[in-house]
Amino acid sequence: MIVRVLGMAAAVALLSGTAFAQAAGDAAAGEKVFTQCKACHTVQAGQNRVGPSLFGVVGRPAGTVEGFNYSPAMKSSGMTWTPENLDKYLADPKGAMPGNKMAFAGLKKPEDRANVIAYLSQQK
Ligand code: HEC
Repeated sequence: MIVRVLGMAAAVALLSGTAFAQAAGDAAAGEKVFTQCKACHTVQAGQNRVGPSLFGVVGRPAGTVEGFNYSPAMKSSGMTWTPENLDKYLADPKGAMPGNKMAFAGLKKPEDRANVIAYLSQQK
């Protein structure tokens, strides 16, 4: 039993740690990072606040949540929210998309971005 549990832990560590360190973040840690987004965003479908609902955001074209009043910059960006594009945007929202109206300084730590993107990937 203990061996099995340890074996699983090792497998999980391998998957989330070494092999995919760049691409795959830790969703549980990402949920904590998301507390910085909660003032403006929910992960519930259709629940927009100051910002649009982030339910299903990973893989979605930017600026397409029903009923949310986006900036022209976001609406016409032609961006799709791949993990790579999210990473660039969240690092520096103003710099990555000039004219967008998300009043957030950005997540400076790459691991915070990877983790919050992993969390958002699960919200679908
Ligand atoms: C102060 C409020 C605020 C905070 C804090 C904030 N956002 Fe936003 N966010 C917005 C607004 C407003 C928009 C819409 C921007 C526009 O239309 O130009 C937005 C847009 C977005 C979008 C594009 C969504 C779409 O439908 O295209 C993503 C992705 C996003 N935010 C992620 C985050 C994440 C992740 C965090 C936390 C790390 C965060 N935001 C923190 C207000 C905020």
